Formats: sequence, C-alpha cells, structure tokens
Amino acid sequence: MLGISGSIRKKSYNTALLHAVTKLKPENMKVEIFGLEDIPFYNADHDGGVLPEPVRIFKQKIAEVDSLLIASPEYNYSFTGILKNAIDWASRPPSNSPLSKKPYAVMGVSGGISGTMRSQSHFRQVATACNMYGMNNPGIYITMGKNKFNENGDLTDEPSIEHLRKFITAFYEWTIKFL
Ligand code: FNR
Repeated sequence: MLGISGSIRKKSYNTALLHAVTKLKPENMKVEIFGLEDIPFYNADHDGGVLPEPVRIFKQKIAEVDSLLIASPEYNYSFTGILKNAIDWASRPPSNSPLSKKPYAVMGVSGGISGTMRSQSHFRQVATACNMYGMNNPGIYITMGKNKFNENGDLTDEPSIEHLRKFITAFYEWTIKFL
C-alpha cells in the first residue's frame, strides 16, 4: 500500500494520520508513504515523452503497490491542488495508467469541524474518472486536528485510534479481494 498525503506541510495532520496507520495496520500489510513535494505542475507537453524524474518514480511506485491510501485536507471544499496535480500526472495516458483498477481508500483530517467530507467526496469523483476501485465503507472523517494529535504528530485521541484501526483492517480486506 502506498500512502499519499494531499498536504506537503511539515506538521501536516494528514501526513501524521498516514504515519498513525503504519502503527495500527495489520501485520501483513506493507505501507510506504510517498511525499508529493517534488512533483512539478502537470504539463501535457510531456504526454508520450520523457517524464520529469519525480513523476516517473511516482508512477512506478503506484504501479508496484496493491493499493493507495489517500489522506488529504479539505481546501476550499475540495481536496488539495497538490494531490489533484499528482493524480493528473498518474492518470496519463488513460489507456495505460497505473491508477486504473487500483483499489484505494480515502481519509482526512480537518482543522475545523468538516472532517474533510467534501474533500473526500470530490476525490471519489476524480477516482471514478481514473477507473479506481474505492472502498465505500467504513469512512473516516477526523475533525479538529489540533485536539487529536500531540506536538510530535502522534494520534492521541483514543476513539480516533480505535476507528482508524478498524478502517485500516477493512481496507486490507478490501485490497486483497483484488489480488
Ligand atoms: C483550509 N482549511 C479548510 N478546512 C475545511 O474544513 N474546509 C475548507 O474548505 C478549508 N479550506 C482551506 C483552504 C486553504 C487554502 C487552507 C490552507 C486551509 C483548513 C484545513 O482543514 C487545515 O489547515 C488543515 O490542518 C490542513 O491539513 P494539514 O496540512 O494539517 O494536513
């Protein structure tokens, strides 16, 4: 499984949530977290040609894993442009995209009370265009990030920890259906 955060902020709660997953996941599940900070803006001039190296690596990582776990903030009622840009790169060409038929789950942490519901909903729309296979239930929508993580970025809220454990176990079961 490849974990992708929609935030490149150093103290991102969403990246921290992916790190929490590494501690709660089933033993058999391998997790790698991929940072999007080096991905340049998508440019269709590269279609069919040589890709920028960070994009080539990103696409290769996606191709190598069984599933993707997305954790994105909500920016202006959607997921972040950082993540959309990366997905646009990976979606090309549609006939040979590593995203196609890839199982995924989406989760998120907001600073306020939204829990990233609108962000996740928009991500699902885009994932449908990319022919990805999303886990519908359970969902996870973490509100008020500053109350759920400590200064070191550890998830400390017990109900969230327990729910994340169930969520990631369900995602493992979802993923192996497609192997
Ligand atoms: C936000 N934030 C935000 N929150 C929300 O619940 N709904 C929203 O529409 C927005 N919009 C928004 C736009 C922009 C440009 C920024 C920078 C922030 C707040 C956001 O949830 C909060 O900053 C999170 O902590 C960001 O996630 P990371 O970076 O901690 O993972």
